Amino acid sequence: MKIGFFDSGIGGMTVLYHALRLLPKDDYIYYADTLHVPYGEKSKDDVKKYVFEAVDFLSQQNIKALVIACNTATSVVAKELRKKYSFPIIGIEPAVKPAIIKNQETGNRVLVLATSLTLKEEKFNNLVTKLDSDHIVDGLALPGLVKFAEDFEFNEEIVLPYLKSQLGSYKLNQYGTVVLGCTHFPFYKDMLKKLLPEQVDIIDGGIGTAENLKRTLKETNSINEGIGAIEYYRSGVKVENEQTLQQYAKLFERLHQI
Ligand code: SIN
Repeated sequence: MKIGFFDSGIGGMTVLYHALRLLPKDDYIYYADTLHVPYGEKSKDDVKKYVFEAVDFLSQQNIKALVIACNTATSVVAKELRKKYSFPIIGIEPAVKPAIIKNQETGNRVLVLATSLTLKEEKFNNLVTKLDSDHIVDGLALPGLVKFAEDFEFNEEIVLPYLKSQLGSYKLNQYGTVVLGCTHFPFYKDMLKKLLPEQVDIIDGGIGTAENLKRTLKETNSINEGIGAIEYYRSGVKVENEQTLQQYAKLFERLHQI
């Protein structure tokens, strides 16, 4: 049986990258909802509808677990998905907790970069209300970064000016941690590093999510001895175009390098 991965687009590959390291012999089916990406600027009801369509499709592919490798989808619909499907569903959340713990000690602030919908959602706001007693967390939506990733745009001359303009009004020296709360953003870690002061560490939930997946499969004794094959789907259509598959392979190379 395969492990299902779902994202609005290519962002979930930043999580799949870690899963492949931890579970190299498992086989994967990766579903990108490229017809409807970006989710971060859509209504909650639309996102729910799109995610259920995608997960219905994946549930027919004989998957043994599903990773919702999309922060926006996790915030909006993870709870409801778990009620409908019997396979384990692992979501991804902004790594706010470790960031707050670390920065409460040093007196620095935390900046969470995510989509507008994730930042607006109850799940995120409840988490911050519960943990952020000193009010050290700020949020910033970066929809442009999702678009750049979907366009395979990794040219610094194009992306850096956008990041500079978005971060321009923030006093970056006051931050100790930047949390990447959207799975598309780790593709730009190298560029963010260039803009952030040296003391700022950048964290994302990808590794934790992959570890959670491994733990879940171990508990149910269902780690495979397959070949680490990945089948890709774009909104229900199997990707067979060699050029697209090569672009996907290059994304893993990029993550390896940065
Ligand atoms: C998006 O589709 O806008 C990005 C989704 C996410 O990873 O939060």
